[in-house]
Amino acid sequence: MNALPGAPHLAYQQNRLTLDGVDLQALGRQFGTPLYVYSASAMRAAAQAYQKALEGQPHLLCYAMKANSNLAVLQLFARLGLGFDIVSGGELQRVLAAGGQASKIVFSGVGKTRDEMVMALRCGVRCFNVESQAELEVLSQVAAGEGLNARVSLRVNPDVDAGTHPYISTGLKGNKFGVAHGRALELYAQARRLPSLEVVGIDCHIGSQITEIGPYLDALDRVLDLVEAIEAQGTPLHHLDLGGGLGITYTDEQPPTPQALVGAMLERIRARGHGHREVFLEPGRSLVGNAGVLLTDVLYLKPAAPEEVPEGGRHFCIVDAAMNDLMRPALYEAWMGIVECVRYDESAVAKQTWDVVGPVCESGDWLGRDRALAVQAGDTLAVLSAGAYGMTMASNYNTRGRAAEVMIDGGQVHLIRERETAAELFAKERLLP
Ligand code: LLP
Repeated sequence: MNALPGAPHLAYQQNRLTLDGVDLQALGRQFGTPLYVYSASAMRAAAQAYQKALEGQPHLLCYAMKANSNLAVLQLFARLGLGFDIVSGGELQRVLAAGGQASKIVFSGVGKTRDEMVMALRCGVRCFNVESQAELEVLSQVAAGEGLNARVSLRVNPDVDAGTHPYISTGLKGNKFGVAHGRALELYAQARRLPSLEVVGIDCHIGSQITEIGPYLDALDRVLDLVEAIEAQGTPLHHLDLGGGLGITYTDEQPPTPQALVGAMLERIRARGHGHREVFLEPGRSLVGNAGVLLTDVLYLKPAAPEEVPEGGRHFCIVDAAMNDLMRPALYEAWMGIVECVRYDESAVAKQTWDVVGPVCESGDWLGRDRALAVQAGDTLAVLSAGAYGMTMASNYNTRGRAAEVMIDGGQVHLIRERETAAELFAKERLLP
């Protein structure tokens, strides 16, 4: 057995890649490719690492389901007692369909509609993470109209640099997220005066794929300064929501473990005399990212001719998964590991440097560049760490049905989402008379 770094559930057995003991190429043959495959045990282990780190502290662990919102994934976390961080009415309906409890939901997002607010109020979500003065006012009106109270927390923008990709950094001044640190006091005072609102907490989220503890502690200090000022003003706060954002290993990143991150945060919270507060966290990627792979078959090899290479010719490995299935490389130039599901003897097929690209008609449609792989047409490749922001960001571009999804749990293989058919894709469209 030969486990892959950061992913003990993935290992080569006699040169065949397995996930929790299940042969991945065989799985691809059985269900077809592209295919997302997840390890239930890896997801549980990630959630339990957070739970263990939070032991002894009043807390609510809310899975940021935008990372992977398959019903079976939500069900798995709901059964472990997790709550959910949602950003739409659609996500709310998914949580309820999967057996999650509304009382453990926090509702984030800069653009909640009135309809979404009504739905969330009627279900009794735990808290609305409000991101602007205008939203605060609308939420107050909507709640009053429903004869209900909305529990609110203001998302403050601590203006710290999380040192991550600009598209997934959210805690800096120029971001659309949260209310400016300097305006928070005034908005809390307003929130307290508005009818049908109950101020219960404060929250921040500084970005995603963060690999250091420092930015979290900086943000925490800024938030605790505010908490002290808000309470001095006469508004008690019950909880601190410190968002998500912990990174995972895609290549050589070495992010802190949940234990290390949460441990450092709790230490700071207690040292500053805030240990009595309930602590909310909203991790997404770090609960599911390393638990999943995307399987894709090699359709064609299209090497450059030797004379083309000096002029920039490239060797293309054309696979059946594309940017519509996994958008991260095209959108963020994200590096994701790609490995062979069956390894050849060196003497049979030599490693060569390939650009792994999909069939979509865009030059940006690539999954990995300059990858040393020993491959032939018909082989299966696995894109690693694809459990987060893979399927949830998939689209139907080029009228490509979205991939099927499979969950491996205790050696059992469960199909948790069927592959979409073309007929389903245009079922809601109408011809002109
Ligand atoms: N809470 C809030 C308010 C968020 O906006 C996010 C993510 C999370 C929690 C969860 O963050 P996580 O623990 O997953 O880093 N599509 C991008 C990531 C976008 C993250 C957006 N917000 C990617 O594929 O890298």
